[in-house]
This record gives sequence, C-alpha cells and structure tokens, in this order.
Amino acid sequence: MSKRPLNVGLVGGGKGAFIVQPHQKAIHFDGTRRVVAGALFPDPKIALEEAANWPYPLKGYGSYDEMIAANASLPADQKLDYILIVTPNFVHYDPAMKAIKAGIPVFCEKPLCLNLKEANDLVKAARKAKIPFGVAHTYLGHWTSRLSRYIVQAGLLGDIRWVDSYYLQGWLATKLEATGQMQAAWRTNPKLAGGSGCGGDIGTHALMQLRYVTGLEVTAVSAQLETFVEGRALDDHFTIYCKLSNGGKALVRASQICIGCKNDLGIIIAGTKGTLQWRQENPESITICLANQPDRTYWRGAVTPGDGFLPKDMPAALMAEPTIPAGHPEAFHDAFARLHRCFEADVRKYQAGEPFACDGSKYANIEDGWIGIAFIETCVKSSSKKGAWTSMPKKI
Ligand SMILES: NC(=O)c1ccc[n+]([C@@H]2O[C@H](COP(=O)([O-])OP(=O)(O)OC[C@H]3O[C@@H](n4cnc5c(N)ncnc54)[C@H](O)[C@@H]3O)[C@@H](O)[C@H]2O)c1
Repeated sequence: MSKRPLNVGLVGGGKGAFIVQPHQKAIHFDGTRRVVAGALFPDPKIALEEAANWPYPLKGYGSYDEMIAANASLPADQKLDYILIVTPNFVHYDPAMKAIKAGIPVFCEKPLCLNLKEANDLVKAARKAKIPFGVAHTYLGHWTSRLSRYIVQAGLLGDIRWVDSYYLQGWLATKLEATGQMQAAWRTNPKLAGGSGCGGDIGTHALMQLRYVTGLEVTAVSAQLETFVEGRALDDHFTIYCKLSNGGKALVRASQICIGCKNDLGIIIAGTKGTLQWRQENPESITICLANQPDRTYWRGAVTPGDGFLPKDMPAALMAEPTIPAGHPEAFHDAFARLHRCFEADVRKYQAGEPFACDGSKYANIEDGWIGIAFIETCVKSSSKKGAWTSMPKKI
C-alpha cells in the first residue's frame, strides 16, 4: 500500500473557529495524513487571508465550491483524499453532497445536517457512490469506549436493563448569543443549528455513545425539550426517556445550563449481572460494579484478560489499539486521532479498490448520522405533544 500521506481539505476553520483545532492536530498525529488545503471562511477574501496566515502551508480557496470543483477532475493521486467539514450545521449538507458527487470521501462534523430530508439524500448519495463517510462523534475514539463496547456486547454485564447517557454543560446558562459570541450565535438559531439546540449539539453525542457501546437502538421516545434562558429560540435542556430495542429503558439527557459543568459526557449501563460507568472528563478508565464484589477499575493499556471478569480471549484488534503505555494520559485529541486513523484505513482501501468497512465499529458512519437526525426530529415531535411516546422512523 502507498505510503504517500493522505491529503485533507478543510471546509471551515478560519477566524477563531473551535473544532477545527483538535481535528487538524489529530489529522497530523501519525504522519500519515496532513492538511493541505482549505476553504476556511464564507467570505472569499477572508478565506484566502486566513489560509495565507495558517501556521503551515495551506492551499487556500475562496469557497468550498471552488475547492471541490478544482479537485473533482484531478487524477486520484493528486486529488484531495478526503475533506473535513467543520462548519456550523447548516453548512454540512451542501459541501458533503458536492464532495460525494466529486468522488471525495467526507469526514463531517455532527449533527450530520439540518433535517431528515437532507439526511436521506446524503445517505442515498453516499451509498450510490460507495464512498467512505465518517461523522465526528469524538468520544467513540476513546479506547475505553472500545473496551466498554466489547464488555457490553460480549454480554459480560448480562441483559441491559437501563442506560443513563448524559452530556452536561454550563456555558449557555446566560444569553451568551446576545453578546455575538460566534459559537453561541449559530447554535441557538434554528435556521443554522436545526430543530433542537442542546439536543442537536450534545444530545446526539449522548445518543451515539449509548448506541455505540450497547449496540442497542432507541425505538421510541418521550421527550421534553426545554428552554431555561428567556428569549432563546431553541432548547437548552433536553431530557429524553427512551425505549430500547431489547425491551430495556434509557435516559438520553443533555443540558447547557448546568453552571460548573464543562463537558460532562458520561454513561451508566446497568445489566442483570453488573453496571459499567464511564465519564469523558476522566476518560482513561471505566468502572465495573458486580453484585457483592469490590468495584473494578480498568485502565486503558493495563487490562489483563482472564482476570475473573474479562475473558482470556479478548479480541486482538482491541488489545492492540492503545498507542502509549497506561499512565501516560490519552484524552480528547487522541480520541479524534483514533477516529481519523480508522477513517484513513477505509479511505486507503477505497482508493485501492478493496472492500472497506465504514460499518460504525470504529467511527460513526453516515447511517449513524442519519439516526442522530431522526432522533432529534422524533424528540421535537414528542416534546410538542407534551412528551407523548413517539416511535423512531424505520431505519433508512
Ligand atoms: N465533535 C465534537 O466534539 C464537536 C465539538 C464542537 C463542535 N462540533 C461541531 O462542529 C461544527 C463546527 O462547530 P464549531 O464550534 O467549531 O463552530 P465555529 O463557529 O467555531 O466554527 C465554524 C467555522 O466554519 C466557518 N464557516 C461558516 N460558513 C462557512 C462557509 N460557507 N464556508 C467556509 N467556512 C464557513 C466559520 O467561519 C468558522 O470558521 C458544528 O457542526 C458543531 O456541531 C463538534
């Protein structure tokens, strides 16, 4: 396989943007991927200035239309290998669709797009093009999320009865958007963010964590979308009681008005044999609680198969995934890097004409993105009917 580093083009990221930063570090993490181009801002002049001032050489484009069109007809070894979409939610669909049509794989920020119509179109287009498409649900990239998925799906906790998947923040406890703060302004505007503010922004992460770790689907919701900050157009508090595909129940909850909470994403999974607990603010370990036994803490990189809970035959691929010895902490950037690393593997297979997985086991795929949007729309419907139980649409 070619050792040429993969070349990545950015859509968005100029003028103090947030999430482009961890992504671009994660892209460069292994030396096998690099950022080489970008359409960094909606205004073409500023986009070019931002590219010229980027801390390393970057081919600037005035718009993502230009960047994608310029690459569409290039031979495969000169074309961008994938694009990374780090724009606000209302600028996901268009560049993603154009890149798919140009034969360029896409790694897109969550939520996938604004509504189910856009999501349907994107899934159909990506399937038709048979092209890798990833959605940036960061927290799946922690090794402890991989281990949790193995523990739950191997049945080590028994049947899953209850899941509490949550994401609590406090940064929107006041009307920050009124100050013009860039990230708050678009996130609280339904035209730019979608049908739910808090739910779309961080509730989708809580949902994805539940689905990834347990392998269960939400089949119906009883939702309360609430707005505590006066005059805000979208929910800032999102509480969803869920029926799960195995007959269990879950709470998927998110809040942006919990003063003091930073990025408190966590999950508690209660089965008939035991409970697993994990928090992303302390992402290097998980706790397993079994009845009448002392709690067990499993650290990334320091797991012993055959210890009386974990079986002897743990999957080799899972055990090989940690990158540095336990105790040298991994965190947010490492999680992003693990996602880009796995996406790179699929892009290289795609380019070589080999089958690639893109099956949601290593990073969220376009179907996962679709489920996030379907969940939001179903929650908005249920909440408008005072929390009436509302079924999720049939999977696309
Ligand atoms: N995965 C995560 O953990 C995570 C965390 C934060 C944000 N996000 C998601 O990432 C996306 C961006 O969020 P953010 O907080 O970085 O936003 P931001 O407001 O900080 O940055 C958005 C960037 O997009 C640019 N942009 C807007 N329209 C554009 C256009 N037409 N062409 C080119 N650039 C354009 C803006 O100028 C800015 O540079 C959102 O979808 C958000 O939900 C994900």
